[in-house]
Amino acid sequence: MVVANDVFAAYKEFGREQGYDLRWLERRDVWGETVEGRAGSGILLQDVDHGVAAHVPDESRNQTGRPRGSIARSGVPRVGNYSVRTKADVWLRNGAELYEEAVARQWSSATDIPWHSITPLPDDIERAECQLATFITEIEFVAGDVPGKWIASVTPDYYEPRMFLLSQVMDEARHLDVFRKRALVNGGGLMRRAGSTQVVGANIDSARDFTEMSARLHITGEGAVLTLFRMGELMAYNDAEKHIYRLCAQDESRHVAFGVMHLQYLGSVETDRREEIHSYLDDAEIALVTGASGQNPVARGLPSNAALAILLGHGEDKVDDGYNTLLAIRQRQVKEYVQRVRVAGFGERFENGRANPLLEQYVRAN
Ligand SMILES: [Fe+2]
Ligand SMILES: [Fe+2]
Repeated sequence: MVVANDVFAAYKEFGREQGYDLRWLERRDVWGETVEGRAGSGILLQDVDHGVAAHVPDESRNQTGRPRGSIARSGVPRVGNYSVRTKADVWLRNGAELYEEAVARQWSSATDIPWHSITPLPDDIERAECQLATFITEIEFVAGDVPGKWIASVTPDYYEPRMFLLSQVMDEARHLDVFRKRALVNGGGLMRRAGSTQVVGANIDSARDFTEMSARLHITGEGAVLTLFRMGELMAYNDAEKHIYRLCAQDESRHVAFGVMHLQYLGSVETDRREEIHSYLDDAEIALVTGASGQNPVARGLPSNAALAILLGHGEDKVDDGYNTLLAIRQRQVKEYVQRVRVAGFGERFENGRANPLLEQYVRAN
């Protein structure tokens, strides 16, 4: 029930006369404005945020965990020494939508995968499945840990990207668990780990800036994983594996979208940081065209590449066919990377000679 303004004012006046501090009773600018849900999707964050709650400051002085839009209170300790307090450093358009989508599309590795469809496989195929699953389990750890470290560093005034990162950590935990299950469910087991921090995630994890981390993780690293998962039909031997790749790709596409939209926002509002962003992409491209990220099938010594080639070629004896298919997948990874960077607004690097020349060579030569 909304009390009429004059009656409310009379109540407050009476309270003050009795010696009470009733400032906390002040009505907010949105008082009396109700929010209707949408048919089919209910009430979304982007629906409820209006008035002062929707005001996202360019700089945040909030270091006390105060929810955006609430009334500040003096004497509250600075519980959060947030290092990310500038909007451009972490913001993206449609962050709330992306978070709501993440929540709506959660799935369970226990019940949403038709595990019964996995039947005994030839030893070489099962070994390769287990090796690949071990590798992916390892990189999913990185994909959860790295954004996870940043969550508590972001001011609550930018709660949308913060909550999206929370959803990403949950997604990555599920990816980790579903591939662990795949390694152990069919009589195989976990195989050799990637074994070198140079192979998995070291440069992503060393990022000192949120956007640097996001460019390396969301756009390059997860972009490559997304392309691979989208090609999952080529290396799946049963319905369960098809489901795993499809559902993981669905999640990864959100993570990649976050990175692309964040870069797009930052690049448009802080043009003096564009050169810096290009330097992150320079590094990322080196990883993309060499064996440094484990993405280059020419690096045949990598267990993950050998496993992929066996799966794609349908057997150890057809591993060369598998490497050919893997090269086609790597080409597609590079093409999709180029497309994402264009959408993020940094496509000029492909026209002005800034991009790694091996990128083009890589696509052409293979
Ligand atoms: Fe993942
Ligand atoms: Fe991811």
